[in-house]
Formats: sequence, structure tokens, C-alpha cells
Amino acid sequence: MDYSGRVVVITGASSGIGKESAAKFARLGASVALVARDGVKLGEAAGELAGYGVPVLACACDVSRKEEVEGMGRKVLEKFGRVDVLVNNAGFGVYGRFSEVGADAAESQMATNYLGMVYCTGQFLPGMLERRSGHIVNVASVAASFGIPAMAGYCASKFAMLGFSESLYHELKGSGVGVTVVSPIMVRTNFFDGESFRRMPKYTYALSASAVAGAVVRAASSPRLEIITPQAVRIAVWFKQTLPYLVNPIVGQIFRRSG
Ligand SMILES: NC(=O)c1ccc[n+]([C@@H]2O[C@H](COP(=O)([O-])OP(=O)(O)OC[C@H]3O[C@@H](n4cnc5c(N)ncnc54)[C@H](OP(=O)(O)O)[C@@H]3O)[C@@H](O)[C@H]2O)c1
Repeated sequence: MDYSGRVVVITGASSGIGKESAAKFARLGASVALVARDGVKLGEAAGELAGYGVPVLACACDVSRKEEVEGMGRKVLEKFGRVDVLVNNAGFGVYGRFSEVGADAAESQMATNYLGMVYCTGQFLPGMLERRSGHIVNVASVAASFGIPAMAGYCASKFAMLGFSESLYHELKGSGVGVTVVSPIMVRTNFFDGESFRRMPKYTYALSASAVAGAVVRAASSPRLEIITPQAVRIAVWFKQTLPYLVNPIVGQIFRRSG
């Protein structure tokens, strides 16, 4: 697909899935706006896109802060005039039982992962609806379908993303604007660098950020509500939703090994 002349905003674009997605959209000719908190890392990520010869805007912004998102929205629209694709990808996780990590961890994950998505969507959806064109891609997780022990706050934020997106999906029917959730399993990124993840058991299988970025690009023109990656995991989600009393104890047992 040719993205020449189209504008893509990506949150969490200085690392991992967001950074790879920015490179893929830039390669397809899109103008890209990169959003994350650390301006230095963001500047480096923007510099790496120079070779694609597309307009790039680096916007330091904490998506959990509504007034910062409003400022970012103004900057992006001043520079590009409109947004065709919004990728809500900024997010983080805290590993540990709720009784240990407490309510603050749940609150901060909800503020970035869920409310960050809501604030950014609030900024750019009205323009898309006016033009009857655009797509919102929300990077959730398979943790939007399974309550995993030691990740209660994270799972709650991802369930919330999926629920919000499902409602929006119905609301947007016939509007010319779409919304698609990308739900990957584990991905090799800086996500697990946080102190809390030292106690997480080691899992051998993980996707590359580039593979997930491919799903993000596909999602930007998909009529589907959710793209689960890898696709085979959709079967596990189907089993969980169809036979929860059978599948939930197995999931609990697999992930309770630690935490
Ligand atoms: N890695 C996995 O196994 C996995 C699996 C499923 C889903 N996901 C989801 O994929 C998304 C991307 O994660 P990743 O694996 O690519 O992690 P990552 O490499 O740690 O990248 C996270 C990005 O989000 C930005 N960010 C974090 N908090 C932010 C905030 N409040 N405001 C703005 N930007 C913020 C970070 O930059 P700054 O710190 O500079 O702000 C960074 O650019 C997340 O939503 C995550 O939940 C990851």
C-alpha cells in the first residue's frame, strides 16, 4: 500500500513495536509524527528515519497527561494539517501480585495504556470523522483476553483498550473511519527491562518487534476489530471465551509458576 502524502501518528515510537512501525510506514511513503516522553530517544528515532526522505515530526509528550496530549495534537495538526492513521501504542507493564505492587501500579498502567489511548483518540478522531476517512490502530495484547497472574493492572488496562475499541468499532460503522486492535503475544523489546520483570519466569518464544509492526501496518487498512498475532493464538482465545471454566484453571496454572 502506498502511504505517500498520508499522515501517521505513532505513540511509543522511540522503541520496540512503535519504532519499527514508524520505519515501516515511512518506507511506504507516509509522513510520520513520533510521540514518546524521552525527547532525546525520540530525536534519535526521528534521525533514523531520515533515509526515507519523508517529513518526520518528533513530539515529546506523556500520553497519560491530557493537557500534554492536547499540545501534541495542536503541534501535529499545525505541521501536517490532518491525521490519516493514529497508532495508540505507548504502554508499559508492571510485574508482581496486586497485593505487592498495589493500587498505584494499576493506576499508572491504566493512565498510560488506557487513558493515553482515549486522550489521543479524542484529539484526532473528530478530524477523521469530518473527512470521513482515517483509521485508529490500538496496540493491546493477548493480555486483553486472559487475566494473567502477577499482571492484574496490565491486563485490566488491555481489557479496557479492547472494550473501548469494540464499542468504537460499532459506533464508527459507515463513518469512513475504522478502528482495529493489534494483540500480540510476547515481543522482544525494552518492555521487559523494568525492575519488576526480573521476577518473571523466562519464556523462550517471543515475536520480533518488526513482525508485530507488520501487523500494525496491516491493521491500518483492515476492516477487522482485532488482529491477534500470531494468528494461531486466536484459537486459544476462542477456547477461553467458549469454555472459560475449562481453560481458566489451565491458564492460571501455567502462569502461576511465579509472581
Ligand atoms: N513487548 C511485549 O511483549 C508486548 C506484548 C503485547 C503488547 N505489547 C504492547 O506493545 C506496546 C509497545 O510496547 P513495546 O514492547 O514496544 O515496549 P517498549 O520497547 O518499552 O516501548 C514503549 C514505548 O512507549 C513509550 N511510552 C511509555 N510510556 C509512555 C507515556 N506515558 N507517554 C508516551 N510514551 C510512552 C516509550 O517511550 P518513553 O519511555 O520515552 O515515553 C517507548 O517509546 C505497549 O502498549 C505494550 O503494552 C507489548
